[in-house]
Amino acid sequence: MANRKFYITTPIYYPNDIPHIGHAYTTIAADVLARWHKLKGDKVWFLTGTDEHGKKIQNAAEKKGKSPKEFVDDLIPKFKDAWKKLNIEYSRFIRTTDRDHEKKVQEILNKVYDNGDIYLGKYEGYYCTACEAYYTEKDLENGCCPIHKTKVDLLKEPSYFFKLGKYQKQLLELYKKNSEFISPKNRKLEIINRIKEGLDDLSISRTSFDWGIPLPFDKKHVCYVWFDALLNYYSGANDFWPADIHLVGKDILWFHVVIWPAMLLSAGIKLPKKIFAHGWWTFDKEKISKSRGKVINVDDLVSIAGVDSARYFLFRETPFGEDGDFSEQALIDRHNNELADKLGNLVSRVAALAEKYGIQKTENRLLKKLKLKEIEKHFEKYEIDRALNEIFAFIDVCNEYVQSKKPWETHDKKVLYELADSIREIAKLLFPFIPETSEKIAKQFRTDKIKKDEILFKKV
Ligand code: MSP
Repeated sequence: MANRKFYITTPIYYPNDIPHIGHAYTTIAADVLARWHKLKGDKVWFLTGTDEHGKKIQNAAEKKGKSPKEFVDDLIPKFKDAWKKLNIEYSRFIRTTDRDHEKKVQEILNKVYDNGDIYLGKYEGYYCTACEAYYTEKDLENGCCPIHKTKVDLLKEPSYFFKLGKYQKQLLELYKKNSEFISPKNRKLEIINRIKEGLDDLSISRTSFDWGIPLPFDKKHVCYVWFDALLNYYSGANDFWPADIHLVGKDILWFHVVIWPAMLLSAGIKLPKKIFAHGWWTFDKEKISKSRGKVINVDDLVSIAGVDSARYFLFRETPFGEDGDFSEQALIDRHNNELADKLGNLVSRVAALAEKYGIQKTENRLLKKLKLKEIEKHFEKYEIDRALNEIFAFIDVCNEYVQSKKPWETHDKKVLYELADSIREIAKLLFPFIPETSEKIAKQFRTDKIKKDEILFKKV
């Protein structure tokens, strides 16, 4: 099924600090999937960007003595540089301060208002600025935000509300009818139970600060940052709407599977096909935290063993969708034992032998052991770790083949052809994961005059 459209998004990140491993993880995952679909011949739109309005950014800017816009303008290049370092090929980097986005948000607000789904009221309750989220008394732990463990604010201000409660039934029906809407499936039950407990209307405007998009029907209010942010997927869609998949972390699943579809239902816009929640990374078994110095920035990540080893590690270490623990040693071990010893060795041995003895075209029986269908299926189901495992299982098969056929003794050109041809296929399949290495391999094996190049992975 070639030439389909494929539209994938990452969450848009708060530019209150430079990006770390958590942001990198989603962005690399989206890049792997986007590259895979491009290989398949699909027309791909890959959207990422930054979530720039709201109190959290305003506070961070104030701390630095800058205006919010100056503050975010200084940080955006850091995000773009990080993605460049990680070889992320996005289609657009959207900022919620982009003019076209702001216009679209106001347009949708008007539409939802005209549909009778927005009314004026008063919000009295708790708010965690670090989460940019509302909490009820029973959500709190000792009066603190359950995620950040910090004090929440008690708000009391006039606010416009979105009639989220009205969509309770439709949302439950959506999950039932479209059983893959929330992925992985094991995250669904919690959402359903929470909705069944009751779905309150959502406060969607604030008057106590001004760093946000003004409501078009009442300029004294600025739009709630999540209502603004979620709409980036639509305003930045470039005719690709509806999205095939929104990749998000498990912590923000609720916003994406409850608030977002309700907004779209209200505005009469098609729904995205799937929301996929991945797990969280810890660092040396501890929660990632800037203040406690437990953080891996993109520069740190890349400096350990190079960009491809970082990209590889994140999808080899943990099933996509589950939590994982990052440690420098674990990355180095995989770099040395898998990338250098398995992939690197295979490529350099075969390239050297093929260069020396030549190859002779024949039926490639070795390649039949590659489980291509399974790999494709894994990609279709967003099981990217399993796709990667399957490719490496074939690399093992190839290494065993070299061992058992001993082409350095036999000089068998046909065996060397089978190996070289299989390596070409491996390079192609690895391209989404480790594009730089994949190109280095492809270069050596491009024509039948194979030439060994420098080694792919120097051991760390
Ligand atoms: N701005 C919102 C998203 C709006 S999308 C319409 C936001 N931004 S964020 O910068 O705080 O986080 C973005 C993503 O990073 C989330 O998906 C979150 O799950 C992910 N991660 C942050 N820390 C993480 C880990 N330690 N591990 C894995 N992902 C983590 O939320």
